[in-house]
Amino acid sequence: MTAVFSRDLHHDYPVAVRGGGMYLYDQHDREYLDMCGGAAVSSLGHQHPAIVNAIQKQVETMAFAHTAFFSNEPQEQLATMLVDAFGEPGARAYFASGGSEANETALKVAWQYWRARAQPTKIKIISRTHSYHGNTFGALSVSGHPARRSIMPNLLLNWPRIEPCYAYRFQHPDETEEEYGERAAKTLETTILQEGPETIAAFIAEPVVGASLGVVSAAKGYFAKIRAICDKYDILLIADEVMCGSGRTGTFFAFEQESFHPDVVTLAKGLGGGHQPLAATIVSAKISNFFTASSTGFAHGHTYIGHAAACSAGVAVMQTIERQNLLAAVQAKGIKFGAMLKDTLTEHPNVGDIRGRGLFWAIELVENKAEKTLFANGADLAKQLKNAAMQHGLMCYPGGGNAGDGLNCHILLAPPYIAEQHHMDQAMTKLTATITEVFGA
Ligand SMILES: Cc1ncc(COP(=O)(O)O)c(C=O)c1O
Repeated sequence: MTAVFSRDLHHDYPVAVRGGGMYLYDQHDREYLDMCGGAAVSSLGHQHPAIVNAIQKQVETMAFAHTAFFSNEPQEQLATMLVDAFGEPGARAYFASGGSEANETALKVAWQYWRARAQPTKIKIISRTHSYHGNTFGALSVSGHPARRSIMPNLLLNWPRIEPCYAYRFQHPDETEEEYGERAAKTLETTILQEGPETIAAFIAEPVVGASLGVVSAAKGYFAKIRAICDKYDILLIADEVMCGSGRTGTFFAFEQESFHPDVVTLAKGLGGGHQPLAATIVSAKISNFFTASSTGFAHGHTYIGHAAACSAGVAVMQTIERQNLLAAVQAKGIKFGAMLKDTLTEHPNVGDIRGRGLFWAIELVENKAEKTLFANGADLAKQLKNAAMQHGLMCYPGGGNAGDGLNCHILLAPPYIAEQHHMDQAMTKLTATITEVFGA
């Protein structure tokens, strides 16, 4: 019997007791190869010595000083490092404990920014369907994830959403990639005009869609066009990089590969590498200078923002990425990993698409390959895949909806950046066994 009010009260979870490198171990000493970092969290694997040391040192020196009274050294250092990476002097970083909090912060920045600029009618946030930005009220309100929203009918704010840029399903056969990107971006302009630009505060999107669709990168030119539309109508552009940021795609920010610069970017998961709960909301100079100059400043806060031990983990993660040249490693390993996935799985009758960037990959599963048919029971299949993989000692991150809600069924893979060839070989064997068990050979 457990007293934990867990995610799934009908599931008997193994108890994780230790971790090391690419592996986690349960109470029976069963080994699990972690090819998804939980949910793209464990960017540098488990018990990484540099991160463990940094946290230990910080906790021994000073564990916590409330940010209403003090700043602290790790917070200052991490903010400087993130602003440097963002590449805009005058930008600033706000630290929280998770992705939902980081996105709530971004929404509050947008609202307060327009109110302070004497445009209080700019309150709506446009987002995309099949998206996930978090589970708190604001973040879930801007999420277009039918299954996660459906448990809160009538309770969430209901703002406009546009279709994601998702070539596998929505690109027309007679369109080039660029033409599709342009058409998909234009739906933002149409929606802004329908709603009235004076009512829109911001547009939020993941530069590479993570768990809600399975590693979907936008068509070439899409985000540059989105940036231009936001500028034209004076709308802030928020990039949710909670999952795809912190080096996951081979550049520190995923937006670096998309030729645009957001006004606000959020990070979480890989930033603390799972060693500490840590998230960041980075705001551009245009916004932060405005708040600095105003007498009211930014009205927001949680008890644990800017936590010294959490920020020390973030500093260690960023330093390790830099020292070990891990962005280049993620790019090189990602090319190999993608080729291995395609070589091993493309021919399977239920594998519709294999796509990814850096160490961020997904396999989209379909009922009928030629028709790209969504499964009627995609969510159940995702559960079965996860359980089967765990039985094979593999952690992967399946997700899915069903034909009714339009969410696909996929397996997301986000291995730690320290993954070596033999881990990928091992993963391929376990993954093939898992897929065969659920779908047949
Ligand atoms: C893109 C994205 N945004 C936000 C969140 C919410 O983050 P958290 O679960 O840390 O609150 C997630 C979590 O999966 C995510 O993938």
